[in-house]
Amino acid sequence: MSEGEYTGKTVLITGAAGGIGTAMAKAYAGAGASLAFVDIADCTGICDDLPGSHSAWQLDISDPDAIEATVSEIGGRMGIDVLINNAGFGVVGAADTFSVEEWDRTLKINLRGPWLMSRAALPYLKASGSGRIVNIASQAGVIALLEHAAYGASKAGLINLTKVLAIEWAKYGITVNAVSPTVVETPMALVGWAGEKGEKARQEIPVGRFARPDEIASAAMYLSSAQAGIVTGENLVVDGGFTIR
Ligand SMILES: NC(=O)c1ccc[n+]([C@@H]2O[C@H](COP(=O)([O-])OP(=O)(O)OC[C@H]3O[C@@H](n4cnc5c(N)ncnc54)[C@H](O)[C@@H]3O)[C@@H](O)[C@H]2O)c1
Repeated sequence: MSEGEYTGKTVLITGAAGGIGTAMAKAYAGAGASLAFVDIADCTGICDDLPGSHSAWQLDISDPDAIEATVSEIGGRMGIDVLINNAGFGVVGAADTFSVEEWDRTLKINLRGPWLMSRAALPYLKASGSGRIVNIASQAGVIALLEHAAYGASKAGLINLTKVLAIEWAKYGITVNAVSPTVVETPMALVGWAGEKGEKARQEIPVGRFARPDEIASAAMYLSSAQAGIVTGENLVVDGGFTIR
């Protein structure tokens, strides 16, 4: 991605306080974008360390009214050229052990949230003339992973939502794509995949390692770039070959 590629563009990133969100913030700010950070956690601190001028909003993307209010405030103030639906939540366990609340929470954050965010951002993405949505899904939405029933269902749903929005909104010049990572070496994932468990999982990936957060940011940046205007409804699997066999 060339320096200044995103100059004059506003990129809204949900889950900006997390491991992948922070890497995206660095990558897009480095390419000249103005960023609107959204997270259920306070993420104002991210703005301090980045070049350029950015703003942060605290928002729970499982709250439809709050989404409407926050996205219209962001759109009215900064416009929205790129929406990255990155906020996510994962509950892992055997399919017969989830509570109804855990199932609902997973679907609300990982699937309903991106739909509501995309719908709220639509007027601003239309006004952009070349709007872009990138949904961060997962390899768990592509293949069956043990103990990932709720998370996998939410991410599979997100991949299909990506395709439907792509065909409905192509007429507005908007592209909608997904990125599906394998395990990403965020601080939290490294705790969960430490030791022998992590080594075994790495060996099952043809390239022999997990993904880095900056590699997920690069994939998103390609899909939201001007050069990717012909790519829509795609799910870019960033998994070192894990799901191809
Ligand atoms: N890390 C991985 O191994 C991995 C692999 C595949 C896909 N993903 C996906 O990548 C995305 C980012 O994950 P991450 O690894 O950076 O995780 P993370 O937990 O570090 O970050 C997720 C962020 O989302 C925010 N969030 C959670 N619920 C929210 C809500 N209701 N409203 C607003 N914000 C909320 C959290 O506060 C957090 O900052 C997620 O969608 C995740 O499912 C991650």
